[in-house]
Amino acid sequence: MEENIALEVRGVGRTFSDGTVALKDISFSIRKGEFAVIAGSNGSGKSVLMSLIAGLDEPSEGTITLHDCQAGLVFQDADSQILGETPEEDIAFGAKNCGLTKEQVKKRVDSVLSETGLTYKRDAYARLLSGGEKRRLAVAGILAMDRSLIIFDEPFANLDWPGVKQVCGIMKQLKEEGKTVLVLTHELEKVLALADRFLVLDKGHLVFDGTPESGLAADLESWGIRNPMTSYKSIKEMIWL
Ligand SMILES: Nc1ncnc2c1ncn2[C@@H]1O[C@H](COP(=O)(O)OP(=O)(O)OP(=O)(O)O)[C@@H](O)[C@H]1O
Ligand SMILES: [Mg+2]
Repeated sequence: MEENIALEVRGVGRTFSDGTVALKDISFSIRKGEFAVIAGSNGSGKSVLMSLIAGLDEPSEGTITLHDCQAGLVFQDADSQILGETPEEDIAFGAKNCGLTKEQVKKRVDSVLSETGLTYKRDAYARLLSGGEKRRLAVAGILAMDRSLIIFDEPFANLDWPGVKQVCGIMKQLKEEGKTVLVLTHELEKVLALADRFLVLDKGHLVFDGTPESGLAADLESWGIRNPMTSYKSIKEMIWL
């Protein structure tokens, strides 16, 4: 086995008790420090795959191995990730679980609040944050835990343009720090420039695994993914039909 593999997925399938086959025979591996974008339309199996990688659910077939790393997750549903009353408390919660001293926790909370643009909300009631603010809070919580593998499930949902730029900036920094990053999304135009690897799920099958360049040359639309090279030249073109 190669030394530098962070995540190995071998022959993984997931069939639910109601008979839904969410994933079928998925195999791929991700190297340490690699930035992978996994695309797929609604229902293609992205979130199910993330739960399996995170160990929140068990595959029906196959194996998933994480090599000397713990995964940090930013969930698609930002609400489900809030544990503290306030952003400060919420972020500290994760950081405390990493064995840091009180001083270190405070320093880390300050720094991630500022990185995610949430300092002004540090003492607000976390449940009342806007959708985009909740997502930034989820990102802040993961940053505070300083994990070596970070998985983002639809990280751009609910984010406005400054919010997307902020999250992309954080992802870029994680990449520069040598972290392994997996981004599950169908919004390629927001993140593909950071990717070293590009994978596509379609109806539970892994239908593409290659470089971002070769992925853009593939027939993405047949898998329900919008090709990000599409551009608009007039108002008439600004409708997704
Ligand atoms: N607990 C479950 N029981 C039965 N079916 C499930 C369960 N969880 C997920 N599924 C099904 O598995 C398939 C994949 O779901 P998943 O949430 O992974 O899709 P996704 O790619 O994340 O979609 P989206 O882009 O909408 O977030 C769907 O058909 C979904 O209905
Ligand atoms: Mg999903």
